[in-house]
Amino acid sequence: MAKPSVGWNNTFQKRWILMLLAIFSISTAIVIVIRASSVSCDPQFERTTTTDNRIQVPTTTQIGNVKDPLSFMKSKLVLLVSHELSLSGGPLLLMELAFLLRSVGANVVWITNQKTSETDEVVYSLEHKMLHRGVQVYSAKGQEAVDTALKADLVVLNTAVAGKWLDAILKDNVPCVLPKVLWWIHEMRGHYFKVEYVKHLPLVAGAMIDSHTTAQYWKNRTRERLGIKMPETYVVHLGNSKELMSVAEDSVAKRVLREHVRESLGVRNEDILFAIINSVSRGKGQDLFLRSFYESLQLIQDQKLQVPLMHAVIVGSDMNAQTKFETELRTFVTEKKIQDRVHFVNKTLTVAPYLAAIDVLVQNSQARGECFGRITIEAMAFQLPVLGTAAGGTTEIVVNGSTGLLHPTGKEGIAPLAKSIVKLATHVERRLTMGKKGYERVKEMFMEQHMSNRIALVLTDVLRKSKTHLGS
Ligand SMILES: *[C@@H]1O[C@H](CO)[C@@H](O)[C@H](O)[C@H]1NC(C)=O
Ligand SMILES: *[C@@H]1O[C@H](CO)[C@@H](O)[C@H](O)[C@H]1NC(C)=O
Ligand SMILES: *[C@@H]1O[C@H](CO)[C@@H](O)[C@H](O)[C@H]1NC(C)=O
Repeated sequence: MAKPSVGWNNTFQKRWILMLLAIFSISTAIVIVIRASSVSCDPQFERTTTTDNRIQVPTTTQIGNVKDPLSFMKSKLVLLVSHELSLSGGPLLLMELAFLLRSVGANVVWITNQKTSETDEVVYSLEHKMLHRGVQVYSAKGQEAVDTALKADLVVLNTAVAGKWLDAILKDNVPCVLPKVLWWIHEMRGHYFKVEYVKHLPLVAGAMIDSHTTAQYWKNRTRERLGIKMPETYVVHLGNSKELMSVAEDSVAKRVLREHVRESLGVRNEDILFAIINSVSRGKGQDLFLRSFYESLQLIQDQKLQVPLMHAVIVGSDMNAQTKFETELRTFVTEKKIQDRVHFVNKTLTVAPYLAAIDVLVQNSQARGECFGRITIEAMAFQLPVLGTAAGGTTEIVVNGSTGLLHPTGKEGIAPLAKSIVKLATHVERRLTMGKKGYERVKEMFMEQHMSNRIALVLTDVLRKSKTHLGS
């Protein structure tokens, strides 16, 4: 629509397209952990446990208001406890929360509990970014951390592992802090269900989990494995950042990025490109995807279907690691002689260029699937249809038959995924319609604004409860 100053916009646009391209070329050289890999939970706000006559929290009808939904956090002191400071999903999400809270004038303190696996350079730049935005960064072990925990209006523990910090640092003070703890959980792997991590879970003010499936899984596992009860649990689906949306909604930027990435991969503009964007591991199902892709090529050949040349790109390789799984993928590609159709790309944090370049996203996470799967909503923002496994958070994001197609996990999923690939390759209008529907769904449910609104409801509830509890 009518923008204030065309000249400024053009310059601005050019500048950041260049910037993205620069980041893109650097990030293909530097291996960084892919953002979408670890965070997969989801946020439609809902209480999964019923509770007695509680006070009504503000309703979502306030969404349209000019007022920021988090504005009641102004001047509140919030302590964020991160298990690590790295470029992986969990810490990045907590940083987003830190900035949302800063933007409404909350006092935010960040501590990192564990040694991080990232290089000092990454840690330095992340800390610098936080300090720059007015977030205080303290040592997790110092007296400052303890004092802040005692004074804070709210303490957010990020991921199950952060629970170790409570006893180790707070010691006798643990009971005073628990009533104001909100525990944000983004994972559902078995090894997180350890008493030493989560024994305080029943006594915190609340747990916030990224998808209904994951919340249900936590409820089951804590009860059956550890014999403990989950606290009040809020499901909060994630939302797309403003930065990502600004690229996704800019057709010029998308075209530039698309041309650039396709050229670097050797894929022509008229070819159709399927991608899986996740760190390469068996759990993310790249092996099964390649089998489906190969099967789809055969189907097309057997049935003599008229389709554009098809390519697959696997973004998330770690060429340095040379894992058995990575080798297995490459051997498969060589054996089937599809080297010219399958491309491997290193892990990267900068997913936008790839989303601009591809035609279909494949989300092939296996077993219980993704906790949320942020890449899914990011792809939908780029108007891409999603071929996903019917598991975990994916089932709460993708509407089967409308914004994408779901297939079963495991070997049973190979043939259905191959068929879906052929379907989207042969039906261009169907593919484009699904992409548009996905975009509409993102605009309706998975924007930063929606996430803020949902988090605001949770924080209101948690603050009210801890006040009652602490009698202040
Ligand atoms: C991928 O990473 C490896 C190992 O770090 C590096 O040698 C290679 O150049 C990278 N590839 C690209 C395309 O950046
Ligand atoms: C949790 O347990 C219930 C009942 O035992 C079961 O129906 C449900 O599928 C389980 N959910 C998950 C996510 O494991
Ligand atoms: C998704 O929908 C297709 C038909 O559009 C159907 O064949 C398939 O079984 C559905 N998958 C799931 C997991 O519901």
